[in-house]
Amino acid sequence: MRASAPGKIILFGEHAVVYGRHAVVTAINLRCYAEAKKSNSFKIHSPIATTGIDYEKHPYVSYAIKRFTEIKPIDGAEIKIESEVPIASGLGSSAAVSVAVLKALDAEFDAGLSNEEIFELARKVELDVQGIGSGTDPFVSTYGGAWLIPERKRIKLEKLKIIVVDSGERSVTAEMVAKVAELRKKLTDVVERVFDVMDAVSLKALNGDIPKLFKINQCMLKALGVSTRRIDEIVQKLEEMGIAAKLTGAGGGGSIIGVGSEDALEKARKLFNAIIVEPEQEGARVED
Ligand code: PMV
Repeated sequence: MRASAPGKIILFGEHAVVYGRHAVVTAINLRCYAEAKKSNSFKIHSPIATTGIDYEKHPYVSYAIKRFTEIKPIDGAEIKIESEVPIASGLGSSAAVSVAVLKALDAEFDAGLSNEEIFELARKVELDVQGIGSGTDPFVSTYGGAWLIPERKRIKLEKLKIIVVDSGERSVTAEMVAKVAELRKKLTDVVERVFDVMDAVSLKALNGDIPKLFKINQCMLKALGVSTRRIDEIVQKLEEMGIAAKLTGAGGGGSIIGVGSEDALEKARKLFNAIIVEPEQEGARVED
């Protein structure tokens, strides 16, 4: 059986959410597809490699299989992965692949897992691989839609087209979180106020005015030291083209998101070889 699960973007409140403030996240209409077929051994095919259970080359898929077999023992499965979600750009590709594999295994082996159980297994996989993680990515990938975090309250967003530009730089989320923690230790009162601004921005976003709020959120992320020269250049260029933009996720690289007129987005898409996404309502689903 074939299943899929969406990637995600953080619209508002990254980093501040680590300190109890609000964030807004949404699933996006880029999906990871996983096919699972009964077999007498385990095999994983992906654009990265073909392997057996391999915790180095295919950590998320391998742990997803392991966690699934703890619930439902099986002799083997052949798993095929295809993904529209760019890897390691803060778009939740790891959670999307975990959720898609779990959903495909559930369908192929009639395990009868609920969405809540799939989310909980994907959450364990996140911890198996990363050691830490808020669980937001597997949550959004399982359920789809837009959410206010930490309450996990489903929200309705205005219809949006969002450009996603890859900065070409890569970073490690844990290192960026540590960098902000360091700044907060030195300048606690100041940084707490930056978080408060981001909290207000996330709450305000529930009533629209996303372009203005993107700009303010980006300024705060810059103040926290998680933007980069390359990100600043891309944000500036997008603004010159009439697009309000901010980094999304941990920063230090990764992706920039922006909103503007369809015309402006299309021009910027060509210029940056970028992608245009929309919020996605549907979470994990069986495709066949
Ligand atoms: O880029 P991502 O998807 O790893 O997002 C990180 C978001 C942070 O707020 C920086 C950390 C977190 O766990 O919420």
